[in-house]
Amino acid sequence: MLARVKTFAVDGLDTRRVWVEVDIRAGLPAFSVVGLADAAVRESRERVRAALLNSGFEFPMRRITASLAPADVHKVGPGFDLALACGILAASGQVPRAPLEDFALFGELSLGGELRPVRGALAIAEGARREGLSSLILPRERAAEAALVEGLSVAGLDTLRAVGDLLAGGEPPPQPVAARPRDAPGGGEPDLADVRGGALAREALEYAAAGGHNLLLEGAPGTGKTMLARRMPSILPPLAREEAFEVTRIHSIAGLHRGDGLIVRRPFRAPHHAISASGLVGGGSTPTPGEASLAHHGVLFLDELSEFARPSLEALRQPLEDGHATVVRGQRCSVFPTRFLLIAATNPCPCGMATLGGDRCACTEADLARHRRRLSGPLLDRLDLLVPVDRPAAAELAGPPGEASDRVRARVLAARDRQSARLAGTGIACNGQMEARHVRALVRLAPEARRLLTAAYARGTLSARGHHRVLRVARTLADLAGAERVAAGHVLKALALRGYAGRGEAAA
Ligand SMILES: Nc1ncnc2c1ncn2[C@@H]1O[C@H](COP(=O)(O)OP(=O)(O)OP(=O)(O)O)[C@@H](O)[C@H]1O
Ligand SMILES: [Mg+2]
Repeated sequence: MLARVKTFAVDGLDTRRVWVEVDIRAGLPAFSVVGLADAAVRESRERVRAALLNSGFEFPMRRITASLAPADVHKVGPGFDLALACGILAASGQVPRAPLEDFALFGELSLGGELRPVRGALAIAEGARREGLSSLILPRERAAEAALVEGLSVAGLDTLRAVGDLLAGGEPPPQPVAARPRDAPGGGEPDLADVRGGALAREALEYAAAGGHNLLLEGAPGTGKTMLARRMPSILPPLAREEAFEVTRIHSIAGLHRGDGLIVRRPFRAPHHAISASGLVGGGSTPTPGEASLAHHGVLFLDELSEFARPSLEALRQPLEDGHATVVRGQRCSVFPTRFLLIAATNPCPCGMATLGGDRCACTEADLARHRRRLSGPLLDRLDLLVPVDRPAAAELAGPPGEASDRVRARVLAARDRQSARLAGTGIACNGQMEARHVRALVRLAPEARRLLTAAYARGTLSARGHHRVLRVARTLADLAGAERVAAGHVLKALALRGYAGRGEAAA
């Protein structure tokens, strides 16, 4: 007897439809699985056998062959258990075959026959919808996530027995309620009001949020660099619906989503500096998204920038520029989106005391030179804003709280609105993403501002790339001020914001 069951294989951030065909015939008892399956899928034979028996079904003592087709798609992970088990049930006549036409099945089985949560429920549900299937059966914990896809009936079940009952004509469980994106990120996020002093750094944070500019914070230990960076998501605009779907899909496939519907907060990722290049941009024998993709539509925070290995930072160059990372392993190629806002933080010198004055800095000239060399790398070249973070004064530390995040965000939102009106039809969302041609076409300068910029360029302190970068930041400053044209003041400030300690110039 032959039975066919539909399921899906996750491939990068995409899904491919997979047929599980189960053939049972007379012969010595055996159970084999063919079709480019990895170790976890081959091991599923043991789980499926135990789960069937422990759920009160029969495990046929005959020759069972399961084929996962198409054979050229890699099948990875334990999510095929449920489809295999149901294939055996149908092929051995323990459940009717007809209802399987409408269902896709996805889930891991425990030996006792319970359904275990799996990664990638949203992507699987989108795949089922795309393939025109009407229903999806998966573990209950992932039902709310799958139910985000409209027009698909989702059955979240707890046990293989319940799946068997449903296929035998039982009542389906109620359609789970999907979480909807909220208008604004809810409470519980750290707020900018906690940060005292550091006026310049706070301003820079606002500019970075408003224009989508990458930012470097430099300051002595304990001045609040990490604190500031963590508060960035609280002043960014809320995720649009499509963005929230993308973030949820990525986090679910990476196994980081707990399955309660849509992720509505912008991600904040702060990988440790020992991270490898593939940990940062994605990789592995089964290409999985890296930190840069987990930070997609959110913030990637590289604390202690000078401690990151050169190859890791080099690997970030292409994703920073293109907004996606291409991972090639063997004959497989996956593309992961990486549109994040980069915040990097560093101490001014290896001991961290250089900016505190006096003779507290214990670094030698050689230490300082090495530190500068490590920083003046390819990454620094792609940062628009380089600002010092000063120690808050005693009065500031004891004083009233700083301006709260929601007030800053209101200004950021207004500036973003102006940008989206100007950038409509270009496919980009903010000033930080403008390429040279956009800058040329869309940034209008007051005559005095143009003279200033030309003079700075003529002095030789500015490269061609630096020139465009200054214009992008200046455009954001003008947007925050509600100005139609970029004025001289904006250009001056943008020049100052990227030239801190002369490093920006050196890098550009
Ligand atoms: N400007 C500030 N306002 C209020 N509290 C601050 C400020 N700066 C530092 N703190 C306090 O000090 C703690 C440490 O700050 P934080 O971790 O942000 O420092 P850092 O600059 O990242 O230091 P490091 O260079 O060692 O990483 C914060 O959790 C906070 O309690
Ligand atoms: Mg820190």
